[in-house]
Amino acid sequence: MVLKPGLEGVPVTNSGICEINGTEGRLSYRGYPISELAQKSSFLETAFLLIWGELPTENELEKFEKDVQMHRRVSFRIRDMLKCFPESGHPMDALQASAASLGLFYSRRAIDDPKYIYDAVVRLIAKIPTMVAAFEQIRKGDDPIQPQDDLPYSSNFLYMLTEREPNPLAARVFDRCLILHAEHSLNASTFSARVTASTLTDPYAVVASAVGTLAGPLHGGANEDVIAMLEEIGRPDEVSSFLNDAIAKKRKIMGFGHREYRVKDPRATILQAFAEELFSEFGKDEMYEVAKALEEEAISKLGPKGIFPNVDFYSGLVYRKLGIPRDLFTPVFAISRVAGWLAHWREQLGANRIFRPSQIYEGAKMRNWKPLESR
Ligand code: ACO
Repeated sequence: MVLKPGLEGVPVTNSGICEINGTEGRLSYRGYPISELAQKSSFLETAFLLIWGELPTENELEKFEKDVQMHRRVSFRIRDMLKCFPESGHPMDALQASAASLGLFYSRRAIDDPKYIYDAVVRLIAKIPTMVAAFEQIRKGDDPIQPQDDLPYSSNFLYMLTEREPNPLAARVFDRCLILHAEHSLNASTFSARVTASTLTDPYAVVASAVGTLAGPLHGGANEDVIAMLEEIGRPDEVSSFLNDAIAKKRKIMGFGHREYRVKDPRATILQAFAEELFSEFGKDEMYEVAKALEEEAISKLGPKGIFPNVDFYSGLVYRKLGIPRDLFTPVFAISRVAGWLAHWREQLGANRIFRPSQIYEGAKMRNWKPLESR
């Protein structure tokens, strides 16, 4: 048996959802280039594409949008549960618990029932933003803001977060960010979703398990750490000394490096353009100058090792400009990635075999139990 730490390069499933070309920096969902989807599609249309395999017709999209809109509200019991959580707790923990709690409300019907599958998809996509925004209001000491029916998906989330209807450019940029983060093949959280799905448990457990995995700083949590790092650097002229010190101490540059890419992540390039669009409309951000200086210098030092900016390098700067608190960056990632997780849930169920890898045992040989007095 050959050990492959981190399963690097080990295929564990066939998939038709997302294709990454890590040497040329290309990414597509169901065959459609990410740049085209980010330009022309909406998040809900992209979610439909990922989950059901084809772009929706006009009628299908209208029905999907309406169904999602109708299921945005969450039970008062979920709001009450969120009120019991400590305000100092991380919103990803609140999201993981509330996503899992949805399983308590919806019966565990046969998971091969198409209506159960459709309803679960709609509920998860509809309710996750509401739960994220509700926790934000509750921890500030306010009541959750109810979804506003006449607002589209992304605008409604920003409204529930800020109690203000967002500027159209801000809403459009946010919707595009959701498209960019919606799917990325077998990353850690999606793998986690597939492992959980392979036990035939319910989709709420599948998503809760993926949320827990996304939370870590080596995965979705990196977008928060990028901002902390840029704040630590402070000014563009501090970049060199920060970088030299980080490299000497083998400290990782957050938002850099990716298992799949040996060039700049194509999503980082698109996000950078969104950041610039926002700054030209709403004013410059000092932090962006630090990020650009860091990118330039880090590429010259780490590029030869195949380490380039990933999607998280610029996403935090965009979210910051949209007024999203830093510890909500990863929950926002989850709002989007739930589409990919659900696509993989369906695909896993279509050709399921429970995941049960093996290990190379290195522990003690068989030995006799010792009584307490002789240990
Ligand atoms: N900064 C500096 N060096 C790095 C970085 C980085 N961000 N990433 C990798 N390296 C170096 C490692 O130190 C290691 O060097 P060595 O061979 O001299 O020891 C080499 O590159 C390989 O690194 P690994 O961590 O083994 O690479 P792996 O493919 O396992 O990890 C990962 C990929 C986790 C994304 C890594 O690049 C990292 O930790 N990046 C920072 C965190 C981050 O931005 N995560 C977000 C990823 S995107 C996402 O999840 C949405």
